[in-house]
Amino acid sequence: MRTRILTSDDIGQAAAILREGGLVGIPTETVYGLGANGLDAAAVSRIFEAKGRPQDNPLILHIPSAEWLERYCRDIPDAAYALAEAFWPGPLTMILPRRESVPDVVTAGLETVGMRCPAHELCRAIIEAAGVAVAAPSGNRSGRPSPTTAGHMLEDMDGRIDAIVDGGACSVGVESTIIDLTCCPPRLLRPGGVTLEQLREVLGEVDVDPAVTRLMGEGEKPRAPGMKYRHYAPKAPVTVVAGDGEKSAEYIAAHMGEEDGIICFAEFRPLFAAQAERGHLMDLGPSADKEEQARHIFDALRAFDHTDVPAIWAQCPDTGGIGLAIANRLNKAAGFHIIEV
Ligand code: TXA
Ligand code: MG
Repeated sequence: MRTRILTSDDIGQAAAILREGGLVGIPTETVYGLGANGLDAAAVSRIFEAKGRPQDNPLILHIPSAEWLERYCRDIPDAAYALAEAFWPGPLTMILPRRESVPDVVTAGLETVGMRCPAHELCRAIIEAAGVAVAAPSGNRSGRPSPTTAGHMLEDMDGRIDAIVDGGACSVGVESTIIDLTCCPPRLLRPGGVTLEQLREVLGEVDVDPAVTRLMGEGEKPRAPGMKYRHYAPKAPVTVVAGDGEKSAEYIAAHMGEEDGIICFAEFRPLFAAQAERGHLMDLGPSADKEEQARHIFDALRAFDHTDVPAIWAQCPDTGGIGLAIANRLNKAAGFHIIEV
């Protein structure tokens, strides 16, 4: 199969591929998704094949507006509409009780389904034109960093899917926030572009699932099945150094090997001039600009796979705001190998 690259002129073509049971890479504001008709069980199965994704890891459904929630969900609490009003279209996925119309292969047999209305206009236009909810995980091969450009998605999926719609670089850069509204209080399952602080403003009390901040033990089952996997992992082992920016940069400079790769904040580049010369330095952006860091985190992790670095060291922001999502992705890439300075 040849994977075609489509553009914003090809909305009709992308929608037709989806309706016919094909697989299309779709741009969203968070990361690129690997989309299929969410009501076509055979098409959805092909997502799992193309990604090499374990069958027990459910997919989320993408819809163009909150008005579509009733089609796929039942017993929808007021909190869902309050969140939709505040954050949709945008980087928030809500876990809700599902209707029978949603195939088992989407939810991995769970009685709940994740629902998301993306902010990317091209993405919503494709879903509208297809006329069905689009099931889409992130568009990477399983275990790899999520793609934030069409080119990165092509690296993983060339020849495995029908097309990728190029909608430019993703503006958020980390996957959507996932909130489970089927438990009380609501529970944050994955931090993302909508922050914990923002959720608490709308919902009041919100619990944080333990899988967000630590490694799950052997017998433990996170509520979001995907959170149990070692993720986003580059080939080389990653060590996260958390704490004050100056201290963490100095710690890394004192402990790194000559050939190691470095992920740092912009102002600490001068400490790693030798690494920069070898192309082993990825800069996330200024330490004060977490939005910028979120946009670069997956590109940084992915970039080292084109090198032969034996190990990677990463600076990490504090967990306020979108920092919680950045820290979570870095810590997962590191298998929660974290040094606090
Ligand atoms: O930003 C995003 O959410 C991107 C873009 C493409 O929309 N999608 C994405 O999908 O990140 P994926 O499949 O890579 O991650 C979805 C996560 C997985 O960890 C999965 O286990 C969890 O959501 N999930 C899906 N349905 C669930 C459910 N019913 N209950 C609990 N967790 C669920
Ligand atoms: Mg994913």
